[in-house]
Amino acid sequence: MKEINNIALADLPLPIKSLFTGYLLVIGLGLLMAGAQIMLTHGMADGKFDLSVDDIVYSYHGNRDAKNASKLEAKLNGSMKENAPPEVRLAMIKWVRAGAPESEWETTIRPLVVENCDACHANIPGLSNISKKEVMLKLAAVDNGASIASLTRVSHIHLFGIAFIFFFVGWIFSFATGFSTLGKSLLIATPFAFLIIDIVSWWLTKLEPGFAWLVIISGFGYSLASTVMIFSSLYQMWATLFRPKKIDPASLQ
Ligand code: HEC
Repeated sequence: MKEINNIALADLPLPIKSLFTGYLLVIGLGLLMAGAQIMLTHGMADGKFDLSVDDIVYSYHGNRDAKNASKLEAKLNGSMKENAPPEVRLAMIKWVRAGAPESEWETTIRPLVVENCDACHANIPGLSNISKKEVMLKLAAVDNGASIASLTRVSHIHLFGIAFIFFFVGWIFSFATGFSTLGKSLLIATPFAFLIIDIVSWWLTKLEPGFAWLVIISGFGYSLASTVMIFSSLYQMWATLFRPKKIDPASLQ
């Protein structure tokens, strides 16, 4: 079978090498930054790798069953702890845990808010006006993770955007030598396959937290495949520069 391109990276004209090199360096730097960002946000904060799994569960599946699942409960256990007497906190947390029934709003919860919270929340500009039912219902809502709308939005941005990166990295790498045709083809296909697995696993994780590990494996998978392609392409384009020049026997005659 004839290969589509039989030009080796090493033999490309200098302007094309320069174009490919600029692109690969920027993409490589971008990958490093993406990795750093994941480490910093999800990170090894407590030195445990499984924290990232938790964080992925948290982003996509939410924090449905846990304590502090709603913003209201989290605040009542956090920065608002001093602002509410224990019996008020207890009543509000019970209300949240019961699913914030609207029937108890006027009778139980609103009076507590007016008495304990309005001094600040109804008066300081910029604070949520929590004596309004709609405001409080939102704060009492349990975190179900990424919404379908935001997952759809981020999914299509990722699929379109990242496909471009892999397309050009794969295309440049297709001029590499020293790989079997099959090996090259598999390597070029790998990031695309992992990209699809990655996006699918976000949706699966939304339904079932156990799929969070698949998000990590696929991210790792496409980073590794791209790294191999980026490094071998750069190496093959420029390695000849550092080799001693061959002497053309013809020139000696
Ligand atoms: C002494 C003033 C003060 C009182 C009293 C107070 N809060 Fe707050 N509350 C704040 C401030 C300031 C913030 C913003 C900073 C923060 O989130 O910690 C806030 C934020 C919140 C938030 C987060 C709102 C959001 O939109 O992010 C909730 C929920 C909340 N308070 C609940 C309460 C409840 C319930 C009470 C009554 C039991 C209460 N607060 C009493 C000052 C107060």
